[in-house]
Amino acid sequence: MKWTAAKIKALKGERKIAMLTAYDALTASLVEDAGIPAVLVGDSLGMAVLGYETTLPVSMEEMLHHTAAVSRGVTNALIIADMPFMSYQPSIAMALENAGRFLKEARADAVKIEGGAFRAEMIESLVKNGVPVLGHIGLTPQSVKETGGYKVQGKTSEQARQLMDDAMAVEQAGAFAVVLECVPAELGEMISNALSIPTIGIGAGAGCDGQVLVLTDLLGVSGKPAPKFVKKFATLHPLIAEALATYKSEVESGAFPSDEHTY
Ligand code: KIV
Repeated sequence: MKWTAAKIKALKGERKIAMLTAYDALTASLVEDAGIPAVLVGDSLGMAVLGYETTLPVSMEEMLHHTAAVSRGVTNALIIADMPFMSYQPSIAMALENAGRFLKEARADAVKIEGGAFRAEMIESLVKNGVPVLGHIGLTPQSVKETGGYKVQGKTSEQARQLMDDAMAVEQAGAFAVVLECVPAELGEMISNALSIPTIGIGAGAGCDGQVLVLTDLLGVSGKPAPKFVKKFATLHPLIAEALATYKSEVESGAFPSDEHTY
């Protein structure tokens, strides 16, 4: 069964929703084979894979390239393309044009954009024009220069009220779900209870309707420190490092290739 945005939305209250990032056909197929219904081609691509320090340099062309690769790797999972910095902020017309490119050129099923109430008009326009939208509020990494860092959001009652208003506005505008990033668990639960669309938490506690993580964080691939909200479900970095070191030493010693790997 092909997952659609509407089917993901309908999971609220039925079961928790697992979402993961993927950036290429190989990792996307692994995610889908695990039965995960939604794959986010996050602009975390920039930091997880492309070697940038933030998500800001990620371009439309890079996102299209990786989203198309993810599309080739999955059959049924919902493919959500993250709209990169300045591909939608300047105008609704630009958001429509670039969202259209994700659906037409990269076979995405939906897009994600960052921002709350002030993005409501844009979300509404996208949805009315046939583009399902995943909202994203709380910590919004594309605004890191303005907000001053990767910090927990919504800690004061005023900020918490603003986030609740943002979540309501995103729902009203027609988003099928909303990512809540880095907010206190209590607030995550309050917002989840107040909305009729699913909340997908990342560092927003167990009260959310679903969870999303960056695949390379979950697999422990990088060996760099990860944020507190990351659980490493595997620690692949030392395994990969050992395999590569063994390869090098066997090539240098002549132990590889042996007869077994020779025609
Ligand atoms: O870019 C990304 O991967 C994201 C998720 C972590 C929510 O925005």
